[in-house]
Amino acid sequence: MVRLDRWIANTCGLSRKTVKELVRGGLVTVNDLKVLDPGAGIDPQNDVLTVNGETYRQTPFAYLMLHKPLGVVSATNDRDQKTVLELVPPALYRKGLFPAGRLDKDTTGFVLLTDDGAFAHRILSPKNHIRKTYVASLERPLGDEGLQTLQNGLTLRDGTRLLPAQVRCLSDDRKTVELQICEGKYHQIRRMLAAVGCPVTALMRTAMGALPLDSTLSPGACRPLTPDEVQKILE
Ligand code: URA
Repeated sequence: MVRLDRWIANTCGLSRKTVKELVRGGLVTVNDLKVLDPGAGIDPQNDVLTVNGETYRQTPFAYLMLHKPLGVVSATNDRDQKTVLELVPPALYRKGLFPAGRLDKDTTGFVLLTDDGAFAHRILSPKNHIRKTYVASLERPLGDEGLQTLQNGLTLRDGTRLLPAQVRCLSDDRKTVELQICEGKYHQIRRMLAAVGCPVTALMRTAMGALPLDSTLSPGACRPLTPDEVQKILE
């Protein structure tokens, strides 16, 4: 179950305030019944909603969280190398699954596998500001100047302009850092950190939007997301 107002806000791209006004104004129905409580629970897989006369039905797409291990490529097929799709157990596999956003072969962590192209586009488009969180281990400590440069946004040597990142040091020696970015340029985190003199020795994606990688999921394992977790990615 997910909250009615959260689901409408995310699905229709409206603010929570607007959604509350619509619901309280009697402009939202669930299975043909007017619902006046914005916090009511709905089942997006089965309930049919109308918002301002428009009907919304969640199509039953698949959304899987995979803990990508080292050495696997984020592709749907590859002649020589193992792909993330080969890690999906037969019970969860379905035609059309693809990784929504790539991780390098040497990066571990959260990969979303889905067959919902519109959702993938939504979470990957920088204009929607869905943050992806990474933890990087560094060869050298990240100094204040480097940290500031990353937070201001920088231009790489090849002219690629990068938006400001949120950065914090996770260890006293400043060699373990967390970065949040809203875009996904080629080798972005590794290139950003190399640009400030701190080559990456290990990299893991730990969250997409407000949804953290499930810490009980071992490398190589995957599981379906609940509707609520899918919505969290959009936050
Ligand atoms: N940035 C990188 O450098 N590599 C990844 O896999 C993801 C982000």
